[in-house]
Amino acid sequence: MKIFLDTADIAAIKKWSEAGLIDGVTTNPTHLSKAGGDPTKVVREICALLKPGLVSVEVTEKKPDKVYAQAKEIAKIADNVLVKVPCHIDYYPIIKKLVKDGVALNITLLFTLVQALFMCKLRVAYISPFIGRRDDIDAAGMDVVTEIRDMMDMHNFTDTKLLAASIRGVRKFHQAILAGADVVTLPVAILEKAVSHPLTDKGIAKFDADWQKLGVKQFP
Ligand code: E4P
Repeated sequence: MKIFLDTADIAAIKKWSEAGLIDGVTTNPTHLSKAGGDPTKVVREICALLKPGLVSVEVTEKKPDKVYAQAKEIAKIADNVLVKVPCHIDYYPIIKKLVKDGVALNITLLFTLVQALFMCKLRVAYISPFIGRRDDIDAAGMDVVTEIRDMMDMHNFTDTKLLAASIRGVRKFHQAILAGADVVTLPVAILEKAVSHPLTDKGIAKFDADWQKLGVKQFP
């Protein structure tokens, strides 16, 4: 199972990649807008930093023919790029074309089991169901991950990987692991929370306090 970082913050990507915990990054227009500067440069830097880890970069054009052309350009940025295309019916024909052209796609803004089935049939590399945004509309976000996993296994869709996105808490990360996601993409704040536990900190302090009582100078 892989962990991606859901950000375009280069300092955070560097930190967590050096810690050996992340296998890739998912950017989106919001993340790149927050990072500021020239988005092409930012994306190139992230790709170089993470290689061979995968970096998702989303199309920003709207019209299908423009999206197609932009997707091809984004794919040329580096060989570890996944091009993000929204799961919209207007883009289905170009998604099919891009897959045929050998472009590795991550289908984003995907919310239902049937959208996932359609994308598996088009043999895209990754699908990203958005958990938090489903929860926002009381639509039981994590259930769809479990259902998609079952559907993919049941019908033997082995070309596509399941990437759980829009994760809003450590508990959701936990649930996505158990639901069988191939990848979970985590916001920096959630990864920071997930790597520590108050009982671990408390336990270290208690053991240290007890150890000091012994007054031993050297051990072993
Ligand atoms: C995933 O690829 C998206 O960038 C991200 O997970 C969206 O998360 P949000 O719904 O918290 O914005």
